[in-house]
Amino acid sequence: MTQHPESESLAELNAEAERLREQIRHHNYRYYVLDDPEITDAEYDVLMRRLEALESRHPELRTPDSPTQRVGAAPSEKFGIVTHRKPMLSLANAMSAEEMREFDARIKRMLRSDADLEYVAEVKLDGLAVELVYEHGRLTVGSTRGDGINGEDVTANIRTIKSVPLTLIRQPHRRMPALLEVRGEVILPRRAFERLNEERVKNGEAPFANPRNAAAGSLRQLDPKVTAARPLEIFCHTPGAMEGIEFTSQWEFLEGIKAFGLRVNPRSKVCHGVDAVLDYWNRLTEERHALDYEADGVVAKINSFALQERLGEVSRSPRWAIAYKFKAQQAETVVEEIVVYVGRIGSLTPVAHLRPVQLAGVTISNASLHNLDEIRRKDVRVGDTVLIERAGDVIPYVVRVTKKGHPRAPEFQMPARCPVCNSRIVHEEGEAAYLCVNVNCPARMRESIRHFASKQALDIDGLGDKLVGQLVEREMIRELDDIYKLKLQDLEALERMGAKSAQNVLASIQRSRKTTLDRVLNGLGIRHVGEATARALAQRFKTLDAVADASEDELQSVRDVGHEVARSIREFFDEPRNRKMVARLAKVLDIAPVEEAATASWPGAGKSFVLTGTLDAMSREEAENAILAAGGRVTSSVSRKTDFVVAGADPGSKLRKAAELGVRTLSEAEFLSMLPRRST
Ligand code: IVH
Repeated sequence: MTQHPESESLAELNAEAERLREQIRHHNYRYYVLDDPEITDAEYDVLMRRLEALESRHPELRTPDSPTQRVGAAPSEKFGIVTHRKPMLSLANAMSAEEMREFDARIKRMLRSDADLEYVAEVKLDGLAVELVYEHGRLTVGSTRGDGINGEDVTANIRTIKSVPLTLIRQPHRRMPALLEVRGEVILPRRAFERLNEERVKNGEAPFANPRNAAAGSLRQLDPKVTAARPLEIFCHTPGAMEGIEFTSQWEFLEGIKAFGLRVNPRSKVCHGVDAVLDYWNRLTEERHALDYEADGVVAKINSFALQERLGEVSRSPRWAIAYKFKAQQAETVVEEIVVYVGRIGSLTPVAHLRPVQLAGVTISNASLHNLDEIRRKDVRVGDTVLIERAGDVIPYVVRVTKKGHPRAPEFQMPARCPVCNSRIVHEEGEAAYLCVNVNCPARMRESIRHFASKQALDIDGLGDKLVGQLVEREMIRELDDIYKLKLQDLEALERMGAKSAQNVLASIQRSRKTTLDRVLNGLGIRHVGEATARALAQRFKTLDAVADASEDELQSVRDVGHEVARSIREFFDEPRNRKMVARLAKVLDIAPVEEAATASWPGAGKSFVLTGTLDAMSREEAENAILAAGGRVTSSVSRKTDFVVAGADPGSKLRKAAELGVRTLSEAEFLSMLPRRST
């Protein structure tokens, strides 16, 4: 570490910064591309922090390709256009082994050869096609495929993807190529997709239909910071234009770009003859569900570039490659009813109740219809036979109508009144959502209370789904503040509720009265206001009344709050019923003014942590103190109430327990990066 920067010349500091950059790049490559790190996360953190410190003291030393610069570019108004030097082609499909053999035979005919052809078989990734342009080893442009000729310039966003090297690794005794273009697939791993959707639903936003859409949506964000927060990954698979470098085959290309530090899929394989490709497909068909990303088939490519050239292309697809798609997990069945469900924020979701059918080993009796626009587009009606499909583990959806009912049922209509409480339904022009206006709608109420009582909000232990259902059904809770009017005898009178559990529930309700403004704001279930926005609002306005009285303009002065969010907050407080309920709630709660900025903004504030295994960077005691100092809690055993399990080296059974209970686990690096940083 540089102890006395003022005594060192800028040249020396520059050399130090460059050395750190080289080291960090190397370790990024080991970690993100090879998945085989050489140093601990804590050691990596030290390097990164040194570089950050150096660059912030001497901004003139900062380079655009520094690992510290992955996020930082200003949001763009609109994406520019990139014309690909070589068109980005698409692939012809084969639907059966028969068609694969025909493809193989066709090539042999064209090449006038009987010998087995050499293929490279690859996973066909279901992501978003992109092109990376490296000029003299530096990433200069990242673009989407677009129409194959022109794509969108998403360089700033692509730079936030950790497995995309900003500079290529120098090869011994070789010059950096003047130009190396590689094409690849940007994907969002399944788990990250599920987490992202949970978050979106919690914030009242529409979930993405599948990981592919989520990846595309994430990459096409105008603000690179949003992209950076999504754990996108890349696999590179195809060459574009090149200058100053040559490869003779697809396999050599894959090996070559791997050496440059680009990430390639480890499952690619050289196959001699079409039968070997079919074997590869059979194996992958069985293993695809174990992959942590979506794949929709196998791509077979003639290995030799000389042969590829001879074969050429036809109608925008190469003759030398083909995609052999997996069989879709589809089934046909009849729509028995279209039912509308009401969610927490009052959004109406149409769901098709189906005649039960087996699909990939599971009985399916419901399928999502997403929204009214989707129903209209597909013209789905009761009595119709429909094709349903399961993409990965996501709930099945209706692909299309395969046979119309006879006689045909009338078109489905969204109800004008809420199916549960009969209140008015509102729908804004141009928006897909239909919303029940009644905050006290029992269906909404159930979801609202569940949300209000959740760990991130008022944290009322014991107020689970069943109990909430009973309380709402018996009209013991009609509005949020009714929770605080519950009496012991009310609870004891419920089915399956012993005296002891009734007391426990009541005790946690009482405990929850002492709370903080951000928790209350999150708990109200205002559309678009999740944990982070609630925290930002609490910090800015300090009291519930101040938030409730703020104008749209004032609200928009808060980080994270744009026009839409501000409008939704205003709409909430402008509804007299909500306003009265909030006033009553304010009377029964003891709402602390916002927590100190340093800890309030820490995602671990108020959360409970369990430590397991040994940490590299600090002792158990130091870690506990760090959590406590930042406003978190430490407990010794894992339960459903635990928010985070920090797993060091050789973690014990607590890690397994966490996985069983669905408690979020943090690696040491994640934990360290989560701790509030002390200013240097
Ligand atoms: S090769 C000319 N390899 O599938 C070669 N494509 O229509 C074209 N894809 O847009 C691409 N995994 O983005 C190739 N291993 C793989 C692939 C792959 C996914 C995508 C690609 C393309 C689409 C084909």
